[in-house]
Amino acid sequence: MFQDQKVSFSGVQPSGNLTIGNYLGAIRNFSKYSEEYKCFYCVVDEHAITVRQNPAELRRRTYETLALYMACGLDPDQNTLYVQSHVHEHAELAWILNCFTMFGELSRMTQFKDKSSKHADNINAGLFTYPALMAADILLYQTDVVPVGIDQKQHVELCRDIAERFNQIYPGTFTVPEPIISRSGMKIMSLAEPTKKMSKSDENVNAVVYILDDRDTIIRKFKRAVTDSETCVRFAEGKDGINNLITIYSCFTGKTFEEIEKEFEGHGYGDFKLAVGEVCADALAPVQTRFHELLSDKASLEAQMRKGAEEASYYARRTLGKVQKKLGFVKL
Ligand code: TRP
Repeated sequence: MFQDQKVSFSGVQPSGNLTIGNYLGAIRNFSKYSEEYKCFYCVVDEHAITVRQNPAELRRRTYETLALYMACGLDPDQNTLYVQSHVHEHAELAWILNCFTMFGELSRMTQFKDKSSKHADNINAGLFTYPALMAADILLYQTDVVPVGIDQKQHVELCRDIAERFNQIYPGTFTVPEPIISRSGMKIMSLAEPTKKMSKSDENVNAVVYILDDRDTIIRKFKRAVTDSETCVRFAEGKDGINNLITIYSCFTGKTFEEIEKEFEGHGYGDFKLAVGEVCADALAPVQTRFHELLSDKASLEAQMRKGAEEASYYARRTLGKVQKKLGFVKL
């Protein structure tokens, strides 16, 4: 669809509460992708309503998510940034793909099993067919690669199966996408339980540093980070807390682990934790300033959304038209 450029597609839930794990492991690297790929980043508000949402909050988070991605360095002139519900082809293709997705396949999805046990009072059909909508997102743009976290790998694999099944009946319809799983070496762990991944939904607020936390909060959280009973800043097996802090410090400063160990030779954990907090707060300060600027100008954000939706629609329309024709829908 884009001559020699490959396509990358990723969806992001409208949640403003992104963590430094999301930032260091994914978002910060997004701008690099646009050198190699034609990139689409979609704020997936239609996926969000598979669990109950407060309308005012969903709306606010949709703006915030877009603003935060732009503040983190995603250039809307180089990437297509848009909101899922603004491009009606997503929902339309999702219906079609529902008819090519098997009950058994959807029943095996771990996320469905998790979410239906968490929201036992609302196990709706949308929660069940969530992966068909996600497949529609991806396949509409003839996507080659899908950068996602490991938790979404199963959904991307199902998307491949759906695409292959469709192509077998209607040859040459969809590009079959590959997942790109972010490197686990960059995995940022919880500050309270450093054997667990840092998660934006952790109930312990001290375990998680959010991109939008203020400086004092960031420094306080790092001060409280769980370490070990040694006093030496070195990366070693069994020192999960310190290993995590070294990783974070390294990600923000670009220094190697050896350089960091040398820098903090003879210093206690207190000094090191403060230093990690400071580099983190320093790095996030410009992101936060930019975020608040962007968010204060709703009109420009909306113009951005409109432009993104127009770009996306152009490609989405082409794929949906092709699919409808292959299926035998009458074209007027
Ligand atoms: N399900 C993804 C998540 O929860 C979000 C998502 C929706 C997505 N559509 C997508 C990710 C398409 C990649 C491609 O994180």
